[in-house]
Amino acid sequence: MVPNSHASVKDGRLFLDGVDLVQLAAEQGTPLYVVSESLVRERCAEIRSAFLEKYPNTAAYYASKAFQTLDMCRIVIQEGLGMDAVSGGELFAALKAGVDPRRITFHGNAKSTDELDYALRVGVGRIVSDNLAEVAEIERIAAGLGRRQALLYRITPGVDSHTHRFISTGSLDSKFGIPLDPSVCDLYMRAVLDAAHIDFRGFHFHIGSQLYDNFSHLAATGIALKLMADVKASYGFETKELILGGGFGIKYLPSDNAPGLSYFLDPMMALIAEKTAEAGLPMPWVAIEPGRWIIGEAGLTLYTIRSVKTIPGIRTYVGVDGGMADNIRPALYEAKYYGLLANKAGLEPSKTVTIAGKCCEMGDILIRDLGLPDPETGDILAVFSTGAYNHSMASNYNRIPRPAVVMTRGGGYRLSVRRENYEDLVIRES
Ligand code: LLP
Repeated sequence: MVPNSHASVKDGRLFLDGVDLVQLAAEQGTPLYVVSESLVRERCAEIRSAFLEKYPNTAAYYASKAFQTLDMCRIVIQEGLGMDAVSGGELFAALKAGVDPRRITFHGNAKSTDELDYALRVGVGRIVSDNLAEVAEIERIAAGLGRRQALLYRITPGVDSHTHRFISTGSLDSKFGIPLDPSVCDLYMRAVLDAAHIDFRGFHFHIGSQLYDNFSHLAATGIALKLMADVKASYGFETKELILGGGFGIKYLPSDNAPGLSYFLDPMMALIAEKTAEAGLPMPWVAIEPGRWIIGEAGLTLYTIRSVKTIPGIRTYVGVDGGMADNIRPALYEAKYYGLLANKAGLEPSKTVTIAGKCCEMGDILIRDLGLPDPETGDILAVFSTGAYNHSMASNYNRIPRPAVVMTRGGGYRLSVRRENYEDLVIRES
């Protein structure tokens, strides 16, 4: 079973959106990131029907850190989403792609003065802040520009999420957000409420990534709602906006059961309606920031098998022409992936093998214990669900050029990002 709803097998070969992936590998080389534009657009349509059209006064921002290319920016904007940018670089690329700055939320726990200056000058819609130094800087810059900047606070709700600890962000001991201890929170509230050039709107949380369980999202929503009632009582401040972050899990393995958007959003929206009514607060504008959920399953990576080596009684290593430089997630988070041979897609697995990357690291293993039909040098391996945090976290370790990105749609494809070449690798060096 192929964990990509837009992939299919025909005459023993794997296709994505009707594009023959074996032929694509021959035309564009490997490793190659392949993204189904149709699947991305389908996900955006689901966000519209399950959230934006279902609930009034809502918005969705694509967390572009998951996968940001100029093409991708244009697609999500055409589909009616805004964009979450977390650095000057992401902001620059979004603007270059033509994203309206008012549809951008600017994030980061340690933004530089240059980044803040840039964000305010171009007129980003909202800044999400979590430290007092930054609030003072935003006030100063906004005053200089004669503007009021819309701002939300990222809070640390103090809930643990069931995911790898490196991608769990909402627990009390976190570098992200404002601790809700009243002694700390009071300083933060006074800082924004006293700032003449800050238009304080409300609160944001993001508790972790690749979650299958809505428990942590609901717990965090409850904590944010309590805070909203508290700040109304203490400061007379009525929260206008609440951002619920992203984190909605996707399918990586054929056996994975990803729960879907409504499973998370419906109970959160019901809780917000109930608790704001109880506290005598107006229903706030509510936004979400999915990254992985939009792009993760849409992507796959094609590799060429370069070596097959059996250590008798131990295991068979299948070496491919990419690895941790284009997908750091197995090494960093013990992330699990699934793959199959695009040129032998009709055959049943006959061997259990380990897919090894080409970097000079023992830890550069892409998949452990994958069943494949007699892998041989020259076969094309497709690894699924590599759309999120693969291209965006790619490196040039071992001076390996980063792969190209192609996007498929309606039986055709286009080159979205060209492959890096050796000259690119030294272009900044003197
Ligand atoms: N909003 C904020 C403020 C975030 O920090 C993130 C992700 C998102 C939204 C989107 O989360 P998503 O819907 O994609 O789960 N590199 C890690 C994931 C890090 C996520 C960082 N923040 C990985 O490869 O799993």
